[in-house]
Amino acid sequence: MDIKKGNKVTIIGAGNVGATVAYSLAMRGVCHEIWLKDRHSDISMGKALDMSQAANVARTHTVVKVAHEASDLKDSDIVVITAGSPRKPGMSRDDLLMINAEITKQVVLDVKKYAPDSIIIMVSNPLDVMTYVALKVSGFPKERVVGMAGILDSARMAHFIYEKIGYGAGQIRASVMGGHGDSMVPLPKFSTVAGVPLSDILSKEEIDEIVERTRHGGAEIVGYLKNGSAYYAPAKATALMVEAILKDTKQIHPCAVYLDGHYGYSDVVSGVPVALGANGVEKVFEMTLTKEQEKQFENSVNSVKEMIDVLKNNKFFD
Ligand code: NAI
Ligand code: 2OP
Repeated sequence: MDIKKGNKVTIIGAGNVGATVAYSLAMRGVCHEIWLKDRHSDISMGKALDMSQAANVARTHTVVKVAHEASDLKDSDIVVITAGSPRKPGMSRDDLLMINAEITKQVVLDVKKYAPDSIIIMVSNPLDVMTYVALKVSGFPKERVVGMAGILDSARMAHFIYEKIGYGAGQIRASVMGGHGDSMVPLPKFSTVAGVPLSDILSKEEIDEIVERTRHGGAEIVGYLKNGSAYYAPAKATALMVEAILKDTKQIHPCAVYLDGHYGYSDVVSGVPVALGANGVEKVFEMTLTKEQEKQFENSVNSVKEMIDVLKNNKFFD
């Protein structure tokens, strides 16, 4: 597929995450145009003007505009979807299922109609299920629908490792796979500090604490913010994916993708290492897992399948 990339990124949902993705892209001049589409057009107008002016301060060529109509999606190379309701204190990601599935369906139908050649990056929660919804509703090839979570969860784990050892900030490579939920699968065995295996630096108990804290990394921030969830790291992780696709970097990142026999699973979305490039998800990597890791991945995949089944039982896809 020969797609001309680099001109237009549309972000549907210009709230905390969406606007911060736009700002992050604008500050690096990753693309020429960023379009914001939100139910609240006035607020989006204000944010777009502010960011376009910030781009002038940063001396980048990016211009931020507002999509008032669905037809403004046309010619988008990438559509980032963050539209939805954020998780509130006491609310699990799964509570958001039905509300966000309907919102996702509505916006993805617009993407399908007006930006049929775009690549969709899904952010709204519950992430793996919303990525599945985007794939099924759009009918896009599986390479062109990808969810953001693994980069964020891995970055959280890396920071928690740093907090334990007090050294190596920015040199820590942590690895997390599976769904973006409490059953995600942090992989300390595949995590290193400047190449040194984690198990040579920390005790099993310390590593277990990091794993647990990573699983609840989103809730920890919700607990402080009270009225919303994290957005700086989620937005930066999303911007990294946009950049990998637009610049065709072929870099490998953990992302939520449709599993089609990978790791022995089909018709479900989960987080695995993939190569991102101009065509979206260009390769899925299958790692050799221990029996324990396989079991944890199975639990995580099954929890996503259960939510997909709730949607199927409610005739959501009919
Ligand atoms: P937010 O509430 O600040 O922004 C959501 C925006 O979506 C609002 O501006 C709202 O007006 C807009 N919106 C709702 N329905 C819409 C529609 N039909 N069309 C256009 N815009 C619409 O929420 P925030 O913090 O930006 O989070 C967005 C989503 O991302 C939530 O579902 C949240 O749980 C999820 N999230 C996912 C992460 C991940 O790792 N995948 C990380 C952080 C957040
Ligand atoms: C997070 O992990 C709420 O999924 C969002 O911060």
